[in-house]
Amino acid sequence: MQNWATAVIEQAVGGGKNVPPLLFSPITLRGVTARNRVMISPMCQYRSVDGGPNDWHLVHLGKFAMGGAGIIFGEETAIEAGGRKTHACAGIYHSDHIRRYRRINKFLKTLGAVSGIQLGHSGRKASCHDASRNWQPLTKADTAAGLPPWTAIAPSPVSEAPGGPLPHEMDLGDIGRNIEHWVRATRMAADADFDICEIHGAHGYLIHQFLSPIANRRRDAYGGDRQGRMRFPLKVAEAVRGAWPADRPLFFRCSVVDGKGGEWYLEDTLAFVRELKERGVDVVDCSSGGMRGSTPFPLIPRVPGYHVTYSARIRREAGVRTIAVGLITDPCHAEAILQAGDADLVAIARAALYDSAWPLRAAAALGLADQYGLLPSDYAFRLRGRDRSRSGYPEGADVRIPHSPDDLVPYVWRRELQAQACGGNLPT
Ligand SMILES: Cc1cc2nc3c(=O)[nH]c(=O)nc-3n(C[C@H](O)[C@H](O)[C@H](O)COP(=O)(O)O)c2cc1C
Repeated sequence: MQNWATAVIEQAVGGGKNVPPLLFSPITLRGVTARNRVMISPMCQYRSVDGGPNDWHLVHLGKFAMGGAGIIFGEETAIEAGGRKTHACAGIYHSDHIRRYRRINKFLKTLGAVSGIQLGHSGRKASCHDASRNWQPLTKADTAAGLPPWTAIAPSPVSEAPGGPLPHEMDLGDIGRNIEHWVRATRMAADADFDICEIHGAHGYLIHQFLSPIANRRRDAYGGDRQGRMRFPLKVAEAVRGAWPADRPLFFRCSVVDGKGGEWYLEDTLAFVRELKERGVDVVDCSSGGMRGSTPFPLIPRVPGYHVTYSARIRREAGVRTIAVGLITDPCHAEAILQAGDADLVAIARAALYDSAWPLRAAAALGLADQYGLLPSDYAFRLRGRDRSRSGYPEGADVRIPHSPDDLVPYVWRRELQAQACGGNLPT
């Protein structure tokens, strides 16, 4: 166990005092109850066709539901085609998309999970290649490969990277149309049976571009001081809340601080979150980065739980529910965060890519009475049976394996016997 949190963790797991794990306590947000507090964080897949999900998404998200997660978010989903980053990004802007997302949501819910959609618009980060090509901007040369570039929109005509393509500065008409797109996408998401809607206001995308002075150089009512720069994001929050059913929760993902060299800090987010709360945002998903500038603001060190202090302060000082995310891989660490009152939900991304049944392992590690209750009933039945048969034959039991009625072969299984095959490392 890592020494950075040993004391807190030991306390969190009750030090043998049999405290039920908070990570596996249900949470109710408006009319939606999640079976536990493990959330699968949004993860772009670059596998959509014309913005729509397909079998890839059914399997990718379905395996997390089978692994016991409480809340499962799909990737950032663009509110209009031009708001996607790449031609393969997800979107929700055709009526056909509704039917496709509904199929996936039905499957996730059958398995006991709550499903979330993260709505977004990439703004000046639109029109690029995917992660495997480091999000390089598309050029005319990509047209031959069926990937024509398009002109991105942004609060100001400032490129994402020096020398990059200049986005079109949104005029008041563009702002109005963009808000209509948020509303249309929200209604479609409700129709597609998502339980939770999250507004992607982080990572240097359109909403974050309005917030940060690095990307917002406007002199009208949508720029200037913090209040002006918050105007568009708050209008989006109001519009989405108005279009999203009152009994379903609304989340908002913030970059609590810009990235290296940034100009938007925690105090700004606190002021912003207080306004979001007044507009009916229920949960703040505390992330960071995506916006680079030239101030001395340093890079956040990527230590386990690197956003937890942000989540803790926002939760306490703005009095809103929060999500902690960022290199949380150890179940005891997740439990410690909740027990310390630093967050209400813990989100995992890469840990779930590594092990889609992370919640099951976490439940076992935290001593949940019946971790198999998280699994589909047929799996649970078989695994409980496996535990029963194992407990009948402890390690080192001297047994006979029948090869025929009168040939009973002695057999002993011990971990040490496997050590050589594992290069001397005993399996855990
Ligand atoms: C493959 C991948 C795709 C991601 N796509 C998104 C996304 O669509 N929206 C978003 O807000 N964050 C996205 N993220 C960030 C994650 O949601 C998460 O905040 C981040 O990976 C830190 O959590 P982790 O340490 O548990 O991976 C992505 C991360 C990964 C690994």
